[in-house]
Amino acid sequence: AKLGILISGRGSNMQALVAHAGSAYEVVVVASDRPNTPGLAWALEHGIPTFALSPKEVGKATYEVALDAALRAAGAEHLALAGYMRLLSNDFVGRWRGRIVNIHPSLLPKYKGLDTHGRAIAAADAVGGCSVHLVTEELDGGDVLGQAEVPILPGDTPEMLAARVLAEEHRLYPRVVSEWLSR
Ligand code: GRF
Repeated sequence: AKLGILISGRGSNMQALVAHAGSAYEVVVVASDRPNTPGLAWALEHGIPTFALSPKEVGKATYEVALDAALRAAGAEHLALAGYMRLLSNDFVGRWRGRIVNIHPSLLPKYKGLDTHGRAIAAADAVGGCSVHLVTEELDGGDVLGQAEVPILPGDTPEMLAARVLAEEHRLYPRVVSEWLSR
């Protein structure tokens, strides 16, 4: 299957997905809403076609039309959000229905949205983790395809927990995407 990846930041999950491409999927394009983000430079250096456009420059509607066109032109059939920090419109989600996944740094349905690790620590949870889920119109709300857990240790800061979870994200995301696209 031909996979497009959407990023906004450093792109470590994108790198994990690229590293595990193979019989289940190939990465045909990396797209970003932030033209200067480090993850995009990494993709360029690794010979992966890229697309970048700032919604602030052209407005959200124009941005999404261009994004959609670029993804299709690159041959993408499925999309993986990897640290993509922008809400996709209902229109966009509708055009790719059932064909977008996201990785979220909590054990959904707990802690949708931001500051997941701070909230898990504040709640004195014993475990944290990450979830791969289908993207629907509801933020972090689609069916969960896979999860990984990590312990929350005494004295953990959000940064310490984030690092522990991120290591699991890099294992979980390629595995779940491979399973999802091998069906
Ligand atoms: C990850 O923790 C991911 O779960 C969240 O944003 C972070 C992105 O990190 N959605 P990276 O850009 O993949 O390194």
